[in-house]
Amino acid sequence: MSANELWGGRFAKGPAEIMERINASIDFDRRLYAQDIMGSMAHSSMLMACKIISEEDGRKIQEGLQTILREIEAGNFKTDPALEDIHMHVEARLRELIGDAAGRLHTARSRNDQVATDFRLWVRDTMDHLDGELADLQDALLDQAEAEADTVMPGFTHLQAAQPVTFGHHMLAYVEMFSRDRGRLKDARARLNESPLGSAALAGTSFPIDREMTAKALKFDRPTANSLDGVSDRDFALEFLGFASICSMHLSRLAEEIVIWSSAQFRFVECSDSFSTGSSIMPQKKNPDAAELIRGKAGRSAGAFTSLLMMMKGLPMTYGKDMQEDKEPVFDAADNLQLCLAAMSGMIRDITVNGEVMTAASGAGFTTATDLADWLVQKLDMPFRQAHHVTGALVKLAEDNKCGLEDLSLAQMQSVESGITDDIYKVLGVQNSVASRVSYGGTAPSNVREQVTRWRKRRAEEGGGK
Ligand code: ARG
Repeated sequence: MSANELWGGRFAKGPAEIMERINASIDFDRRLYAQDIMGSMAHSSMLMACKIISEEDGRKIQEGLQTILREIEAGNFKTDPALEDIHMHVEARLRELIGDAAGRLHTARSRNDQVATDFRLWVRDTMDHLDGELADLQDALLDQAEAEADTVMPGFTHLQAAQPVTFGHHMLAYVEMFSRDRGRLKDARARLNESPLGSAALAGTSFPIDREMTAKALKFDRPTANSLDGVSDRDFALEFLGFASICSMHLSRLAEEIVIWSSAQFRFVECSDSFSTGSSIMPQKKNPDAAELIRGKAGRSAGAFTSLLMMMKGLPMTYGKDMQEDKEPVFDAADNLQLCLAAMSGMIRDITVNGEVMTAASGAGFTTATDLADWLVQKLDMPFRQAHHVTGALVKLAEDNKCGLEDLSLAQMQSVESGITDDIYKVLGVQNSVASRVSYGGTAPSNVREQVTRWRKRRAEEGGGK
């Protein structure tokens, strides 16, 4: 059967070969087969229940659909670009299997509401799957946060050493970021979860259909309220890509940190052999390829988002064939994000943290200068601005002597500020510095432990992960 036979009534001849090629989407939309068959099962049950088709035809249709599902799953399904897309492939095969009754499945339905429904179902499944991957990554980060709650590392702004922080606190920052990504998924899923099925081509239908019934069968919360919007809305795909872009950006930032930390100049962490590659010429090299690829792939999600947004922006209501271009960017972004999340979880689980190197580096660059200024305020009742100035002078002195703040003698300190006592040395160690940062959300090891406990509880309540 050629595509032409489905609407052949008004066509005298078939499409040009190049038309067939530009028109066909089967090479990528075959991924919607399970959703397409599920949608047709729900639609045919409803047509039977509403007595729009006979029980006998309905049963034949449903048996045929199940056979097709098995055929596709077993890899025994031939595709033909002349049949354009997955919807027509399924229908054509159904006709081969059950004959004329197949023609009744498309009653009160159009490919426009069909594809809108299938694609929503696919994106919804993907959202649920990715949420599980994100939960797993959070679990991996929490394990590291707990293990390294006391490990001191330099905290950076402008990639300049700023103040000592704990590695556990740094891991928890990403737990928060990925939690917002999961929140975005949850919000987008709730808006996605309306059924366009029954919007028909664009205007609804004169058949006495029950849209609540199909919505319920497909686990949607309700049917979409406007048939024009039902067939032409792709916000759910855009929101998915918006989520994917932001989540990929988060992954890319973590990947970039791993690239920096694992360099010979930093040596804060070491990636496991299973997530690294060597060089074909330089025997000493161990490259963090997985991290680099995660960083590199982030551009694809953002590109996918832009591509769909641009495709949609000039479309008059309702469906336009342009919209067939909605699927590839979503598939690409989803596939890559799934890969990146799994690779990142594996990398984080396997990473070796060089606590001693990090702690040794965390005092460099006068990172406890703020602690010194705070001491002057707290012990000498100095206004903070003045304390800032005095500390600046002490940093200058240490710099001139090529030593750290803690290496200045009490006499040297007192030459800048006579009120300084021995007590000052307590706040100059990086361990003391981080231990003192107990304000809510601060980096103290005790805070990290509390936050890990809070997150573990939340993760146990929500389930998921691996
Ligand atoms: N393959 C099409 C798509 O992906 C299905 C809808 C076709 N509808 C139509 N009126 N030509 O968008």
